[in-house]
Amino acid sequence: MRYQPISNQLFIKNRSNFVSEMKENTITILTSNDVKHNNADDVMGFTQNNDLFYLCGIDQEESILVLYPDAYKEENRAILFIKETNETIKIWDGEKLTKKQATEVSGIQRVEWVQDLEMVLQYMAFEADGFYLGHNEHLKRVTKDQQTQQDRMISWCKEKYPLHEYYRAAKITRGLRQIKSEEEIALIKKAADISIEGFHRAIQSAKPNIKEYEIEAELIYTLTKNGGSRHSFKPIVASGKNACALHYNTNDDVCKDGEMILMDFGVCYANYNSDTTRCFPVNGKFSERQKEVYSSVLHCLKEGSKLLMPGAISSEYEAQMAKLVETELIKLGLLDAVEVANQDPKKPLYKKYFMHGTAHHIGLDVHDVGLYSRPFEAGMVLTCEPGIYIAEEGIGCRLENDYVLTENGPINLTEAMPIEIEEIEALMKS
Ligand code: GLY
Ligand code: MN
Ligand code: MN
Repeated sequence: MRYQPISNQLFIKNRSNFVSEMKENTITILTSNDVKHNNADDVMGFTQNNDLFYLCGIDQEESILVLYPDAYKEENRAILFIKETNETIKIWDGEKLTKKQATEVSGIQRVEWVQDLEMVLQYMAFEADGFYLGHNEHLKRVTKDQQTQQDRMISWCKEKYPLHEYYRAAKITRGLRQIKSEEEIALIKKAADISIEGFHRAIQSAKPNIKEYEIEAELIYTLTKNGGSRHSFKPIVASGKNACALHYNTNDDVCKDGEMILMDFGVCYANYNSDTTRCFPVNGKFSERQKEVYSSVLHCLKEGSKLLMPGAISSEYEAQMAKLVETELIKLGLLDAVEVANQDPKKPLYKKYFMHGTAHHIGLDVHDVGLYSRPFEAGMVLTCEPGIYIAEEGIGCRLENDYVLTENGPINLTEAMPIEIEEIEALMKS
């Protein structure tokens, strides 16, 4: 593992919370994700299924977690199934988890080989009334046209046990995962700290005529050196007008003198993510117009993030943030106050320059699971990311921090990432 081991107390606590929400006499089965393939015999790598990781901390492919809290035999209440290694795997891929190591990581006493799942489950299934199975229920899921390991488990289980009741494990995890524990916040903070170091390195590399991907290279250097597993998402290094394409990430353009760069990036550490955005001038000095736009966005970030309070409703918060941005767009001369006053509320004029939401949950997923109809609560971790995109001027500006909500106000986990205009310019001079 690249990251410091996580205390298995976290996973024991998560399992205890999870099983307390299961219906009586039911079994949960969660599977790991597939290893994604490139062409021929190459693989893109492995990303653990986040619900499985949340409940047992196992970060290895071909793992299955079975929970049956009402099992008659205590040994059947929690079982971890892992991949059995062999000489070929050892020679080609190296070590896999032993049963003892899997127990240490997860706090689960009973560990079996994955090929024995069917046999072990047979005894438990006849005792139980139903199954909780995993599925990617994210609103914007990208797996909808593909068969995932979870989909295969659903088909297999329903074929084998057609008369049992079936329930959604994700309905429980999406609620639990929305509130972060101290240990989880510390892991997100670690990811944020690596991002802050990466930002310093990246911004200092910027100069006229550098390629966007050369700046991106500084990010991967820092995250790898610090034990990060991967980018939270493909980083955006967008110079000039490229910053107006919200998910631009080809990062293959030349950064020209006089342009501003938008860099939206995150670090995944121990499967927990950060997500931050900063903007800076290619030549180290903001133009007057860039300063105006940047100051407007910074104002919205400062004022908007204060609204991330327990009890706030996401849609109301977003409407208040939109008002803040709208006021700035008028000040910048991009919208006319009278036209705004008379606009069709269903087609607000600000959408031309500001088209996205500004607060998403962050954790094991960058756009973390959880219901947005649930009012904000202490312990939630949310981003705040207002932006203004002026395609006709070749300026796109977004600023993004990560906040833990508390009763006393939000705590900015990315506070140490420079954001004031003077700080940015000073950093680029040094
Ligand atoms: N980079 C994706 C986001 O900021 O939500
Ligand atoms: Mn974000
Ligand atoms: Mn982002």
